[in-house]
Amino acid sequence: MFGFWKTWKALEARGIMGINRRNADYVLKYNKRSLYPIVDDKIITKERAMAAGIHVPQMYGIISTEKEIDKLDDIIGGRSDFVIKPAQGAGGDGILVIADRFEGRYRTVSGKIISHEEIEHQISSILTGLYSLGGHRDRALIEYRVVPDQIFKSISYEGVPDIRIIVLMGYPVMAMLRLPTRQSGGKANLHQGAIGVGVDLATGLTLRGTWLNNIITKHPDTTNAVDGVQLPNWDGFMKLAAGCYELCGLGYIGVDMVLDQEKGPLILELNARPGLNIQIANDCGLTLRTHAVEARLEEFKAAGVTETPEERVKFVQEMFGHIPAVEA
Ligand SMILES: Nc1ncnc2c1ncn2[C@@H]1O[C@H](COP(=O)(O)OP(=O)(O)O)[C@@H](O)[C@H]1O
Ligand SMILES: [Mg+2]
Repeated sequence: MFGFWKTWKALEARGIMGINRRNADYVLKYNKRSLYPIVDDKIITKERAMAAGIHVPQMYGIISTEKEIDKLDDIIGGRSDFVIKPAQGAGGDGILVIADRFEGRYRTVSGKIISHEEIEHQISSILTGLYSLGGHRDRALIEYRVVPDQIFKSISYEGVPDIRIIVLMGYPVMAMLRLPTRQSGGKANLHQGAIGVGVDLATGLTLRGTWLNNIITKHPDTTNAVDGVQLPNWDGFMKLAAGCYELCGLGYIGVDMVLDQEKGPLILELNARPGLNIQIANDCGLTLRTHAVEARLEEFKAAGVTETPEERVKFVQEMFGHIPAVEA
């Protein structure tokens, strides 16, 4: 506890962003209320992304009413792996990742065997709003199960690691790789017990990790080092994240992406109130970086210039990269 507090204080001196500043100066300032549904409902996010040609896990179907639960078999078809999630869920709650079938039942990614009735019950809970923001009625989304790229085998435990990038007005400002653990049940959400590992914006090399508010260098389940790992296709992830500004119109977002073994980088979801622990994983405060981006925006506004996603990525990589990009 004390160690964590000390870490937080030390970061504060280096421009750490607290929850009040995030809400007042970023979320409220840059995120228009009327645009929230685009990111708060994963079905709407997916439809938008598909229309813009941005890759997402394929949607197999939507269940909106109790009666439609009967359609589940048709939606799943003959598939033995798929994911069911609440369209308006958060923090990994209510998500069912089915990896296989087993003797008329299903096996989740963490090895639990569940029956068809249990899945139906889960969908029913989703519809009543058990997992939705504000407890409103919700829809259940059934989609392709992402199979993580082999690169993650040694540093992850079950499930799918994801890459979170915080994007301010289209400028990626900080990145983190989130690794599921035995504790997080195959999900990459930090408060479920996943690990957050900082990522160098310039190179895609992983930095140190944070787990349950402690600083770590090894994965607790696999004991392999989590730092110094080169994420593949890094510039691709950076450009994908930068382009999400044009996609949703929200100025301050957390973009969650995954690397599928066959389909490559995919957008999983967008968040309008991204968490602040990313600063611990990166050993760096967000405020210095967001201020640098805001200064650049001011400069360009005066000159009537806007930058493309590629130009924005180049700027942040030169400004915020731990290991500066080598000039050609
Ligand atoms: N299609 C999928 N295939 C495999 N794992 C998934 C899939 N969708 C989500 N997950 C796992 O669940 C976690 C949370 O999913 P996400 O869509 O980000 O919802 P939430 O808003 O609850 O965070 C992801 O980080 C990932 O580990
Ligand atoms: Mg998420």
